[in-house]
Amino acid sequence: MSQDQFRVLVADDMAADAVAIMSDAGLKVDVNTGRTPEQLKEIIGQYHGLAVRSSSKVTSSLLEGASQLKIVGRAGVGVDNIDVPAATKKQVLVINTPAGNGIAAGELALGYIFALARKLPQSTASMKAGQWDKKAFMGVEITGKTLGVVGFGNIGRMVGDRAVGLKMNVLAYDPFIQPGAVPPSGTEFATLEELIKRSDFITLHMPLTPDTKGLFGRDNLLKMKKNAYLINCARGGIIDEAALYEVMKDGHLAGAALDVFEEEPCGPLPVLSLPNVLSSPHTGASTKEAQVKVAIELAEVFVDFLLKGKVRNAVNKL
Ligand SMILES: NC(=O)c1ccc[n+]([C@@H]2O[C@H](COP(=O)([O-])OP(=O)(O)OC[C@H]3O[C@@H](n4cnc5c(N)ncnc54)[C@H](O)[C@@H]3O)[C@@H](O)[C@H]2O)c1
Repeated sequence: MSQDQFRVLVADDMAADAVAIMSDAGLKVDVNTGRTPEQLKEIIGQYHGLAVRSSSKVTSSLLEGASQLKIVGRAGVGVDNIDVPAATKKQVLVINTPAGNGIAAGELALGYIFALARKLPQSTASMKAGQWDKKAFMGVEITGKTLGVVGFGNIGRMVGDRAVGLKMNVLAYDPFIQPGAVPPSGTEFATLEELIKRSDFITLHMPLTPDTKGLFGRDNLLKMKKNAYLINCARGGIIDEAALYEVMKDGHLAGAALDVFEEEPCGPLPVLSLPNVLSSPHTGASTKEAQVKVAIELAEVFVDFLLKGKVRNAVNKL
């Protein structure tokens, strides 16, 4: 088959740069968004590549009709909308684009540090309600405070680096840090226990795994300083939401910020009813820049795979 016969379906909204990169390289790209699962099933048989964000569901039923499909790509990190085992069974490569949205997620965590410290969402809501309640919005400074970064990978390191610039003391915990590794300037490696006990702010930047699921449950939450703040812009499920509600209801912790949830969309959770809990609907990657970066990354991976046979960013092993 000659290269220009490879066809890619872009099934969800994606930055135009991605289409241009694939078309310029010689792939035939159709942008056909907002299709129902049935409509997708009708056309999927014509394509060798399928690019999605989170709207389109790549189910085993869809894959059944994907007779020529070689690659499914998710512009973003999570592949919850793709049935990876079914794709593997069909010998379809699944890829994601983890590099593109790190800055966006890290900046959200940093934004939450300031928002929590100065109660910005609460004071905005109060003023919109016509109040001038200066006393209610006494905050804390972040200068000289200790930030615990749990998960010291791409995003954790970026957050730690910026926090050092904000004159915070950074503690980092990551079980995969090599013994003898030297921490970046202004940062100290710590055990999880030490980090939890010493930090004024804790920000989570690890994946959800059997080891991290519920890691911030009642025991570890109660080990945190009473006036500490907890931020999760990583993955839902790392914090036990029910336990967080219980300990905070009883006055433990000064505040928490949640971008990710055990179940998404999450609806009105008890923990969100607490006045010192801030939240966003998994918008860690939702910046214009990140969306362009993940789309470009996806397009480059598709070109490399379909036209050069190179595998990058694989989520499954064929
Ligand atoms: N909110 C969002 O929209 C958004 C956007 C991008 C990424 N994320 C999430 O942020 C997290 C971090 O992403 P990243 O790009 O930095 O990933 P990464 O793989 O570069 O870093 C993750 C780090 O976590 C560490 N880790 C693994 N198990 C651990 C454990 N038990 N305790 C502590 N650390 C552990 C790993 O060693 C690694 O260094 C991921 O969960 C990712 O899905 C969320």
